[in-house]
Amino acid sequence: MIGVYFSGTGNTKYCISRFLEYYNDKKENEIYSIEDKNCISKIKESKDIVLAYPIYYSDIPIIVKDFLNNNKDVFKDKNIFLIATMGLFSGDGTGCSARLLKRYGANIIGGLHLKMPDCIGDVKLLKKSIKRNKAIIKQADLKIKRTVINIKKGKYSKEGLHFLNHITGLFGQRLWFYNKTLKLKDKLNIDYNKCISCGKCSINCPTKNLKMIDNKPIPQGNCTSCYRCINNCTKYAITLIGNKVYEQSKIEKYID
Ligand SMILES: Cc1cc2nc3c(=O)[nH]c(=O)nc-3n(C[C@H](O)[C@H](O)[C@H](O)COP(=O)(O)O)c2cc1C
Repeated sequence: MIGVYFSGTGNTKYCISRFLEYYNDKKENEIYSIEDKNCISKIKESKDIVLAYPIYYSDIPIIVKDFLNNNKDVFKDKNIFLIATMGLFSGDGTGCSARLLKRYGANIIGGLHLKMPDCIGDVKLLKKSIKRNKAIIKQADLKIKRTVINIKKGKYSKEGLHFLNHITGLFGQRLWFYNKTLKLKDKLNIDYNKCISCGKCSINCPTKNLKMIDNKPIPQGNCTSCYRCINNCTKYAITLIGNKVYEQSKIEKYID
């Protein structure tokens, strides 16, 4: 089994790595980001895939939805296990991509929801202590291990895939935040008084939304809301939902 993922700030990459470590019983595994040029050819070569992504407003990130829609043909007849990571709740996080992938001919073999640290660094209300986030990751780790043990016994968890999950995802959040991430596409704020033009945000942006023009990162209206630039800016100069960065969420801070 190979892994395919999108991870804005590291949580999802961590989870899919752990899943494959347990599943394949080895440390080094084939894991490809959807940003990786080889990703499509690797999917074509593999029958069994675990696909992982974070949840934004109980939905799939735009970049992941585009990836699935633009590469419909490669998913036909693949066995796909889905992992969705989230700060608190998604309802049908895995179900959102399962419905698309089934349409493209994939066989969805299971789903797993994992609670991870909240990556929204510019909303105070959502911030937790480092100790709490460390505990959250330990719990996720245990859940991944238990899930893989069960898979090896032929029991696949189906989290997020049931009709009831669809209803909770839809009414719990998606309807109220309808197309919220589309509306955020051009809402990235950069405080040029703080920005030191290091270009890190531009290099790391998965959608090439931040273009260096006259030595300044200028948003191009193509933000996927992943918070990678916000959580890695050394000057705390970037915000999206809030207007001040309270704490940058980074997976490295939470694993010993
Ligand atoms: C724009 C945005 C919206 C989010 N919406 C939700 C949500 O609806 N429910 C939830 O539980 N977590 C939500 N989160 C939290 C992320 O899903 C969570 O932190 C995830 O593990 C981040 O993964 P990553 O580090 O791989 O990017 C949201 C995060 C962002 C950036």
